[in-house]
Order: sequence, then structure tokens, then C-alpha cells
Amino acid sequence: MQCVRIVGGRPLGGSVEIGGSKNAALPILAASILTDERVLLHSVPRLDDVHLMLSILKKLGGDVTLEGNSATVRMGCVSAVPDFSAVCRMRASICLLGPLVARCGEAVLPLPGGCAIGPRPIDLHLKGLQKLGCEVIQSKEGVRLRAKRLNGARIFLAGKNGGTVTGTANMLCAAAIARGTTEIHFAACEPEVVDLCKFLTGMGAKIYGIGSPILTVDGVDSLRGAEHRLIADRIQAGTFALLAPMLRGDMAIKRAPISHCAALLDVLERIGVPFSADGDCLHIFGGKCDRLAAIDVSAMAYPGFPTDLQAALCALATQCCGESAIGERIYENRFGHLVGLRSMGAGITLAGSTARVVGPTKLAAAELSVADLRGGACLCMAALAASGESIVDSVHHMDRGYEQFEEKLRSIGADIMRFER
Ligand code: EPU
Repeated sequence: MQCVRIVGGRPLGGSVEIGGSKNAALPILAASILTDERVLLHSVPRLDDVHLMLSILKKLGGDVTLEGNSATVRMGCVSAVPDFSAVCRMRASICLLGPLVARCGEAVLPLPGGCAIGPRPIDLHLKGLQKLGCEVIQSKEGVRLRAKRLNGARIFLAGKNGGTVTGTANMLCAAAIARGTTEIHFAACEPEVVDLCKFLTGMGAKIYGIGSPILTVDGVDSLRGAEHRLIADRIQAGTFALLAPMLRGDMAIKRAPISHCAALLDVLERIGVPFSADGDCLHIFGGKCDRLAAIDVSAMAYPGFPTDLQAALCALATQCCGESAIGERIYENRFGHLVGLRSMGAGITLAGSTARVVGPTKLAAAELSVADLRGGACLCMAALAASGESIVDSVHHMDRGYEQFEEKLRSIGADIMRFER
């Protein structure tokens, strides 16, 4: 098992550079199935999930290379059935559904189950693709989609928790080469969806209303190859921005997608963290914070505070004065990280989907176990703030989403070392 040893309580400061966005990379890589021409992507983060998606594309028949942070993908001919063992390892494989059925007229995928952050249904993906003309056959093993021809349709893509990011990506990919016009109502507005729209547009897709909750797609006969630079990862940037005040360090976060971080910056302002933006460099002056104020905020769809930073915010809240209320409106059960924070002495209660965190608490070092990617970042943040040596196990979860996390932390002064147990 991959573990890290963290000696906490050290002052941190310096600069880190943010890489490309994982959640932009995965649907865009899947969308490269839509053309038999070459796709060239830059700023591709070297993460486990990205390597897995590239290997799935290769097994589907693609020529795939990753050199540095540039990937080339050429899907000359494509099989409709991906490698189930690889697909099962990553929930984001669901992004293959729309591109595969659009390109091959058929797609077969195992049904993704729930995961550490709660149930992850795909009913909206299936509803939308059915509207576009897919026949959907579900069995215990998985889901098979078939469509001789996709036809444009009006799709309302909201469930009880609102829109769906990867569901919107699937609709966009399928609608791009469907016959006629598709309207996607309640489309996700996340920057990663906008990035996919830009990529598809570069391939020749006709998409209108980009960035809004109503997207209109005029289907075209075929898409061509494209070159595209992925947006920077707002969740990685946000994680460092929340860590800086926790450790009272000054940090320059370079290549930060500042225009995608309004909710995060509002939270920092309300907590009392001074910051400034200089081009795409976000300076966080954690060293100038004397008192961090408690915060009341809920994670919700973009442009709201991102669910993928909710865990990191819980870690910071342990150092805020008073009772913070951190709600979760996307995944009601995404609170696995609270167990670890409590074991370090944090005063936290969970009422429904709201964590109430009373601080500030002097966190104690502990043996911690990571259950999911973002919870892992939260626990490492807490371990960096605690005095003494913490061991964090199952850190392989973090290799899915944080590029060179330990290296970046070490470069700003953290004492963190990986080992195998
Ligand atoms: N939902 C349904 N039915 C569906 C699809 C979703 O009810 O068919 C519900 C979900 O249960 C959830 C809500 O809708 O309550 C939103 O889920 P969504 O589909 O937007 O999530 P996703 O597309 O599977 C992406 C990111 C997640 C991120 C969420 C929310 C990727 C590859 N994943 O997931 O990222 O938390 O959007 O922003 O883009 C992460 O990076 O750690 C991560 C989990």
C-alpha cells in the first residue's frame, strides 16, 4: 500500500505551478473518438486517471502517445466495447458512452456502481441518449446502447441534485454528429464543459450558448482533428489556496485559472485571507492572516463553491475561529474525510449534508486512511498543520487527481515522504 509520512507544523511558503485540468482532460480525450483524424492536446496532466483513459483509447484501436504534457490520439478504427477491467477502475469512463455510440452506432460499458463519495447514478446519461435515438439495454453486467442514426432532440438534463457534468459531455458529443438540432436544457456550466465545447468547436462542431445552461447543437456530418490546450485545474489551484492560510504561509499559485475561482475567492475573502491576482498568478498571503473567521457555505454546481474543494475547506475550517457550516448539495454523503479530521481532534458534527466544524483546533498527528481523491488532499492538509508525524495510507487515490502533489508540497517546504507498506 502506498503511504506518505508527513511531519507537520512546518511553515510553508513559495510558489507552485498548476497543471491541466483532470476533469477537462478525461471527457476531451473520450471525445477524440469522434474523429478518425489526429487530435493533439497540450497541458495534459500526468495522472493515473489520464493514463487509464489513454490506455482504454489504445485498446479501443487508437494510436496514442503522451510526451511530456502533450498527447496525440488518432482513433483510426474504433471498437464499441472497451476493456471492462480498465473501465471499471474509473468512474469517468462513463464519458466514453456518447462518443462511442455516436462513432460506432453501439457502445457497451459496465454499469458504474457507487463509490466512496456516494451513489453515482447514470440515469440522466441514459435518458438523454435515448432522446437522441439510442436503444438502451441494461443487464447486470452493464449497459448496451445501439443507434442506427442519432437524431437531434430537446433534452432536459436535470435530476434531483441538479445538472450533470459528464452527462452534459456525453450529450454534446452525441449531438455533435447527430442529424438535426439538439437543445440541452439544464446543461452543466462548469469550465470543464466549456473547454469540451471549445475542443468540439475546433473539430468543426456547431455549438451555441457555450457556458450557459441551454446549449444548442447543430449536428454536422463529421468532425475533423484538432489541436487544443486544456484549461488549468481549478481544484488543484483551490487546494493550494486553502492550504496557504491553514499553514499561515505566503503562496504564489502560478497558472491559476482565476476567472474560474470566483466562489473560492469569495470564501477566502469572507474567512479573512488576503490575496491578489497578477495575471494568472494568484498570491495568497497566509502569513498576513491573524484570525481566520468561520465560514457558512454550501458546495453546489458552478459557479458555486465546488464540491471537489469541500473536503479541503473542511480542513481549513478546523483552523477558523467559531463554528463553520459547510454544506454539500451535489453528493450528500461526500464526508468520508471527517473521520480522519475527528481522529486528529477536530470538533465536527454532521447534520444531514452539513458539516459543522468548530475551531480553531490544534490538530494532533495521527494514522490516517484515504478513501477518495479529494478526501486525501484534505487529510494531507490536516497532517501538514498538525504537530508531529502523521502517516497517511492509500494515497494512490490522490495520484488520480493531483499531479506531483508531494513534489509540489516539498518545493514549498513540506516534510512529506512516500513509502510502501
Ligand atoms: N446524477 C444523477 N444522475 C445522473 C448523473 C448524475 O442523479 O445520471 C447526480 C449525481 O448523483 C450528483 C449530481 O447529479 O448528485 C452531479 O453529478 P455529476 O454527473 O455532475 O458528476 P460527474 O459528472 O460524474 C464530475 C466530476 C466530479 C465532480 C462532479 C461535480 C469528472 C470526471 N468528474 O462528475 O469530479 O465532483 O462532476 O462537479 O468530471 C473529482 O474530480 O474528484 C470528482 C469526483
